[in-house]
Amino acid sequence: MGNQNQPTSLVLTGFMGVGKTTVGRILAKRGGLRWQDTDHLLEEHYGRDAGTIFLEEGEARLREYEAELCRELARQDGLLITTGGGTLLRPATAAYFDGRALVICLTAREDTIACRLNLEDETRPLFGGDWWRLLAERQPRYHEFPHQVATDGRIPQHVAEEVWALWQQAQRSA
Ligand code: S3P
Repeated sequence: MGNQNQPTSLVLTGFMGVGKTTVGRILAKRGGLRWQDTDHLLEEHYGRDAGTIFLEEGEARLREYEAELCRELARQDGLLITTGGGTLLRPATAAYFDGRALVICLTAREDTIACRLNLEDETRPLFGGDWWRLLAERQPRYHEFPHQVATDGRIPQHVAEEVWALWQQAQRSA
């Protein structure tokens, strides 16, 4: 039986290229949680990907759409939610998950991210020339998430195992 403090969903956050989607895909195969990806939901609900929304309507609107999605997701139980890199940096959006979900921030060093990302990827408009500045600017906010899992030099399977162990621990200790 669950109790009121038990997280009912698992949320992954972190900068672009830390492996949220890759790890999410592995975790989704374990079963038990229904996978929802905010970038994917944006396309479904608003007919355009995050990059296009960002370019056409601006970042503020993108964050509003993401907030709306997260509000809905936070009302549901049993979800594995992968978020866009900036989604939970808006405090009001992150707050929807307070007391409801276990939020885990995946981290990676700048050199790791540079290796992983395809810099030509047009679906990541924020990931332009000076992406490292964006990373540096956001870093303090990513560090604030209480659960951090480092991904440098690790295969996604191992990262997924650590995330899953945290999830199970949270289930037990709640
Ligand atoms: C963004 C990250 C992207 C996508 C959008 C904005 C960000 O998602 O939501 O381009 O602000 O960091 P991924 O982190 O999945 O690449």
